[in-house]
Amino acid sequence: MRLSVIGCGYLGAVHAAAMASIGHEVVGIDIDPGKIKTLSDGDAPFFEPGLQQILTEGIASGRLSFSTEFAAAAGADVHFIGVGTPQQPGGHAADLTYVHTAVDSLLPHLSEGDVVAGKSTVPVGTAASLAPRVAATGATLVWNPEFLREGWAVADTITPDRLVAGVPDGPSGERAAEVLREVYHPAVASGIPFIVTDYATSELVKVAANAFLATKISFINAMAEIAEASGADVTQLADAIGHDERIGRRFLGAGIGFGGGCLPKDIRAFAARAEELGKSESVTFLREVDAINLRRRDRAVELVVQALGGSVFGKKVTVLGAAFKPHSDDVRDSPALDVAVRLRGLGADVMVTDPQAIDNARRLHPQLAYEPDRDTAIRDADAIALVTEWDEYRRELTPEHASSLTSGRVVVDGRNGLDAAAWRAAGWQYHGMGRP
Ligand code: UDX
Repeated sequence: MRLSVIGCGYLGAVHAAAMASIGHEVVGIDIDPGKIKTLSDGDAPFFEPGLQQILTEGIASGRLSFSTEFAAAAGADVHFIGVGTPQQPGGHAADLTYVHTAVDSLLPHLSEGDVVAGKSTVPVGTAASLAPRVAATGATLVWNPEFLREGWAVADTITPDRLVAGVPDGPSGERAAEVLREVYHPAVASGIPFIVTDYATSELVKVAANAFLATKISFINAMAEIAEASGADVTQLADAIGHDERIGRRFLGAGIGFGGGCLPKDIRAFAARAEELGKSESVTFLREVDAINLRRRDRAVELVVQALGGSVFGKKVTVLGAAFKPHSDDVRDSPALDVAVRLRGLGADVMVTDPQAIDNARRLHPQLAYEPDRDTAIRDADAIALVTEWDEYRRELTPEHASSLTSGRVVVDGRNGLDAAAWRAAGWQYHGMGRP
């Protein structure tokens, strides 16, 4: 099929390349000429495992191209909208400017029977408000939320846990659902659930999923706070409750909490939308989820300060990690980088290292010092803080090796990823999150 993908950020670039990899003819469109040039040259504009390969293959096959012109979308059967919906400056609601601009710019190039498939995460009610404009061209709007995780984006796009299509009532909706089924044929044929529903439900599925995940993380982080006050170990607690299949161990990793381009802004936009709907009390708990999450960053900073005798002023602190999670170079709302910035604000001589995210981190926080080589970064540190659990730090850095690089013996494990007993046995003062 012929597809266009509007917006070539984390979502759109991966979607375009992934759709080409399953045999479609795809044009990716973005207003940023730099991004389009990079993609057209076959270079992945950000670090995402597997993306480089499908991008190179797609371009070589002639099925994948990129353009800054909306006119390039003309002739495609399906047009995906994958632009960003960031948090509004000065507020918690989602900024829908890019979605509206993308749809309006696309309208002149739509033909009778086209399907416009919104993938961006939007407040419930957005699709219904956009639908008449699309319908006026003879095309049909569907909402097809994206659930990809950064770091697993290619696999999540090609073989997602489920596909959701929010469609309008009537024959145009039924037909549009069939068109989407065809787009995702390999996934549908392999038995991946394909859920056809109304606009509102499809929009809510996405925000509800992210709200649930954020709540799960903040739940275990709240338990970490109680563990800290009572001498319990939150990692053992998580293991024990996680054996109950109804609870499950995944997303019960206590630490410095969630960040990134989705979870934080999505729960805030959800609460803002609920308030507009007169239902703010239904999601008041999301404020607590947010607050618990942010408190854990304070806690990590406090642990470093306490471990260094009450002040970090003039002390060298090496921060292992800048990305909001491993396997990503994304630093949007990164708890790791936030901890680094706060430590610097307290007068510490902060050195940040990360296998992938240094360039992005430097752009956002040029005041911090960066060193790509892990061992050079650790040299002569008074304290080490692990804040993004890359294998390079969690698995591959042994306490013995760290001891050979510095005489400092303080390690703060912001992700509970290190073997506490091994570090202590090697003479280190180990501090975890919610662990004695
Ligand atoms: C998330 C959703 O998982 C995805 O389905 C949605 O489409 C977009 O938002 P992503 O932002 O890529 O994906 O990251 P995710 O893997 O969910 O992690 C989010 C944050 O939670 C990270 O900062 C991570 O470090 C943190 N986290 C995750 C924890 O603190 N503990 C955990 O147990 C799991």
